Amino acid sequence: MHKKTTLVLGGFIGLALAGSVGAADMHTQVIASTCMSCHGPGGKSQGKIPSLAGLDKDYFVKFMTEFKAGTRAASIMKRHANGYTEAEIEAMGAYFASLK
Ligand code: HEC
Repeated sequence: MHKKTTLVLGGFIGLALAGSVGAADMHTQVIASTCMSCHGPGGKSQGKIPSLAGLDKDYFVKFMTEFKAGTRAASIMKRHANGYTEAEIEAMGAYFASLK
């Protein structure tokens, strides 16, 4: 009983600590998972759309920023990029870079 409470509490503290700095916190994993319907499960594309897994973080951030600004040609990525803040783009970049 006590052991179980400690485990549950530990889980909450872990989540809280993951916060916004962690590369793979809950929020980042949730938003990144919406990309995977097109960019492939785990960011590994199975078609024409480029893979995101293992992409260099700086490259990822640069692309997303350019999509957002409209300076990079995009069929649909401008609309996707527009939905995220710089911090979210940074976090997603770190997350995708960490996927192998
Ligand atoms: C509806 C399908 C779709 C979804 C969902 C989607 N993308 Fe894309 N993505 C594309 C296509 C298509 C391209 C090629 C550029 C274009 O035509 O917009 C692309 C290109 C990219 C590129 C450039 C990669 C390269 O090497 O050229 C990045 C980075 C990227 N997407 C990130 C994301 C992220 C992050 C998300 C989720 C927030 C996401 N995409 C969601 C379809 C999608």
